[in-house]
Amino acid sequence: MNPNLDLLHPYPFQKLRDLFCGVTPNPDYSPINLSIGEPKHATPDFIRHALAENLDGLANYPTTQGSVALRQAIGAWIERRYGIPPLDPNTQILPVNGSREALFAFAQAVINPNRIPLPCPLPTAGEGDEVSLRDDRDKPVIICPNPFYQIYEGAALLAGATPYFLNTTPGNSYAMDFSSVPEEIWRRTQLVYACSPGNPTGKVMDIEEWSHLFDLSDKYGFIIASDECYSELYPDEHVPPLGALQVAHQLGGEDYGRLVVFNSLSKRSNVPGMRSGFAAGCESILEKFLLYRTYHGCAMNPAVQAASAAAWNDEAHVEENRRLYREKFATVTPLLQQALKVEEPDASFYLWAQTPVSDTEFAQALYRDYNVTLLPGSFLARQAHGLNPGTNFVRIALVAPLAQCVEAAERIQNLVKTF
Ligand SMILES: Cc1ncc(COP(=O)(O)O)c(C=O)c1O
Repeated sequence: MNPNLDLLHPYPFQKLRDLFCGVTPNPDYSPINLSIGEPKHATPDFIRHALAENLDGLANYPTTQGSVALRQAIGAWIERRYGIPPLDPNTQILPVNGSREALFAFAQAVINPNRIPLPCPLPTAGEGDEVSLRDDRDKPVIICPNPFYQIYEGAALLAGATPYFLNTTPGNSYAMDFSSVPEEIWRRTQLVYACSPGNPTGKVMDIEEWSHLFDLSDKYGFIIASDECYSELYPDEHVPPLGALQVAHQLGGEDYGRLVVFNSLSKRSNVPGMRSGFAAGCESILEKFLLYRTYHGCAMNPAVQAASAAAWNDEAHVEENRRLYREKFATVTPLLQQALKVEEPDASFYLWAQTPVSDTEFAQALYRDYNVTLLPGSFLARQAHGLNPGTNFVRIALVAPLAQCVEAAERIQNLVKTF
């Protein structure tokens, strides 16, 4: 077996099951689950119909590159959403089966496990490749935020890389502090995962942070994977979150060299079961990624492709989706603020709240006494640079209907009174 499999951590929800093992929730309360980031708003009818109407597609093997119609729909959406010139649907856009598999597969395709760190002084592009590793300290590095979406870490480990975590805390406004990364780490870095809007903090990266990251990528030659799957869930209809392609364009990086963004219909269009998203950006990277994917065997089901094109072509349902989340944040955040330290996020459907006792104790007590399930923040983060930045936080996913979210907030208020 691949020894790197032994490096994988249990998934946060496995840790949650372990935490709740043997704990009986109070039967006086109905269960409310706000732990999983699974959208619960209804799938729009037109997407369901598009899926059903295209079942004939099941008679054919789909191509890995996907239909022209889907890539054009994605391209048109990117152009409308970010106000950038059209991407080439033949070379700069790839459909993926949800951003999760693509974020994972991407590291497997782009990491060169045999490349030794860049020497000092830095070489010209291309040098430094093709030499055998000396030892573990030379392993390639993948940088990602901490707390983070756990796929980044698993992708790094299975690609033969070492994850390097950048703690995002209230002290640094939940930003990744790239200036804290030692030179020795940058020289080994081959890939940076950025997550904006962030899970679980909801933090949206601003143009200065992107610009800093792009400069570092130019200097050290690493690739940027920008995970933007929460990009369409934001509070102010007039201020959508910046996207990495948009910033790259604004900063003059027309060819999106070393940048690939990942987005998804799961949260935008309430179709997490459809498994549909895209990767877009740097042509030369996507060419190799397509090659990898052809062997990996991850072509998208033709009916899903047709339904996805319909979803990307419509904004009305996404506006309604945002309205529902906005209503929940406006009602629930003030209720929670009476009990916990918590702010409305820049975007996403999460509240990242500080707990008065340890996050695991809080989550367990809430489940035991009030039958509400939340995710302890420490399960979403790793110990790095002397702390686990998820400790004493809980992630509250406002996915349930408004009434349930309000009920959960009231139960949280009652629990906090007992501490
Ligand atoms: C930060 C982040 N990225 C990616 C994903 C994957 O979403 P999907 O595979 O449904 O596109 C999730 C899902 O919760 C997520 O939270």
